[in-house]
Amino acid sequence: MASPRPYLLLFFWGGDLGSDEVIQIQEKPTHNSIFEWIGGESNIKTLVERFYDLMDIEPSYAKLRASHGTDLSNARQRLFWFLCGWMGGPQHYTERFGHPMLRARHLPFAIGIAERDQWLACMSQAMQEAGVDTALQQRLHESFFQTADWMRNQGVPQ
Ligand code: HEM
Repeated sequence: MASPRPYLLLFFWGGDLGSDEVIQIQEKPTHNSIFEWIGGESNIKTLVERFYDLMDIEPSYAKLRASHGTDLSNARQRLFWFLCGWMGGPQHYTERFGHPMLRARHLPFAIGIAERDQWLACMSQAMQEAGVDTALQQRLHESFFQTADWMRNQGVPQ
């Protein structure tokens, strides 16, 4: 009898994003990494550009937009670098800045439930509009939720 197909375990490096996440794909894997699944750097770039464009123009993300400075170019560049590595591609962010320490880096910004939910809604809209595969959107949403929720620094016991 054929042995069960081994599961592919994709390890998302959590670093201090919280606990290390393990994403399990229980069917025949068609991609070696999330980075490959999303379509590499150019598609991550498209996603990040759309994310910050939406943050800039959509009134429903105004609270999130207000927590950023006037110029979003730094944030665009850094989120792009970060996501490349986080998805299993080139480690552009850590090569430049070392460990992401995302929670610590976000401490100067007030992040409560409203900011978290606007970040997630903005990212979900960006993923849809950037044409990210629907199954991948679901996976990423779960991971983004864990990360964004863990970055809350308002309304949580310190
Ligand atoms: C939960 C709501 C969040 C808020 C309100 C928020 C807000 C911000 C702000 C204000 C900055 C600074 C931008 C600048 O330098 O101009 C920033 C930077 C950044 N954010 Fe977020 N963020 C959130 C969630 C996330 C999540 C979930 C991720 C990753 C999945 C993320 C990744 C980053 C990265 C990589 C940077 C650049 C950090 C650096 O090197 O300084 N953020 N964020």
